[in-house]
This record gives sequence, structure tokens and C-alpha cells, in this order.
Amino acid sequence: MVPPVFTMMRKTVEDVEYGGYIIPKGWQVIHAANMTQWDPAIFPEPGRFDPAQFDNASAVPPFALVPFGGSARICTGNEFARVETLVAVHHIVTIFRWKLAAGCDRSFSRFSLPYPSQGLLIDIEPIQK
Ligand code: HEM
Repeated sequence: MVPPVFTMMRKTVEDVEYGGYIIPKGWQVIHAANMTQWDPAIFPEPGRFDPAQFDNASAVPPFALVPFGGSARICTGNEFARVETLVAVHHIVTIFRWKLAAGCDRSFSRFSLPYPSQGLLIDIEPIQK
């Protein structure tokens, strides 16, 4: 929904025709991941948090989900970052009960990475086992 790195740069090595326009060889091109990931033709209801939409990975067209970029320059830390995130989320939801604090909205700002505008205010308590 909010790719941390939202643009990637490339340079055309030959003339490219895209959407009826010619991009000449040697031009610098910026690809915005969020424009692809918010395309309802690819992801219906892109504004709805729905991890289940990725259950059938083969239904997602190539280069449609690009938070780590793609091609030869795909993020080299991509698998590491996914595992790190899974471990962190696992501990957050199995050790603690938490929810957004009252009054905390979901707005975010970019500096240039996205951050919750108010910080991420949460109410948190340990789960008793
Ligand atoms: C959530 C975490 C991360 C995100 C969203 C992310 C995203 C990205 C993106 C979008 C690119 C540009 C890819 C492209 O141009 O196609 C990139 C490049 C890169 N990332 Fe990450 N990254 C993350 C974590 C990491 C980590 C943990 C490492 C290293 C341990 C790392 C190392 C790199 C390197 C070295 C490149 C340059 C690759 C190249 O140009 O060949 N990243 N990353």
C-alpha cells in the first residue's frame, strides 16, 4: 500500500515505445512503484489492506508488485528484509496485544521514506501466558 522506496531510476538503452509515446535512447526514466501497486486494473481495491490477495502468487502479473524493484538491479537485501520483517511482526503479535491509540490517524509523510505523521501511537500490553 505504501512502498518504502517509491521511485526507481533507469536509463533507456534504446528507443522505447510506451503508451503511444517514444522514450528516446539515453533518457532517464523514473518508475513509481506506488503507481503500479495502486492500479486497480492489477489490484482491485488497492486502498484496502488485504494480504490474502497475494495467496495466489501466480495471479499477480510479473513486475506488478515491486516494493524491492525488479530486473538485474532488484534489491539485494530483499529476502533478508522480508525475513527480518516477518520475525519482528511475529514477536509483536505473539508477545504483545496492541492497537492504534485513540486519536491516532493513519496519515503519513515522506522524508523521503514514509513515516506515520504523528509517529505510530499504540496501546500495548504483554499477552499473559
Ligand atoms: C523493507 C526493506 C527494503 C526495501 C523496501 C528495499 C527496497 C529497495 C529498492 C526499491 C531498490 C531499488 C531496486 C531497483 O532499482 O530495481 C533497492 C536496492 C538495493 N537495496 Fe534494498 N530495500 C530494503 C532493504 C534492504 C536491505 C536490508 C539491504 C541490505 C542488507 C538492501 C540493499 C540494497 C542494495 C545493495 C540495493 C542496490 C541494488 C543494485 O542496484 O544492484 N536493501 N532496495
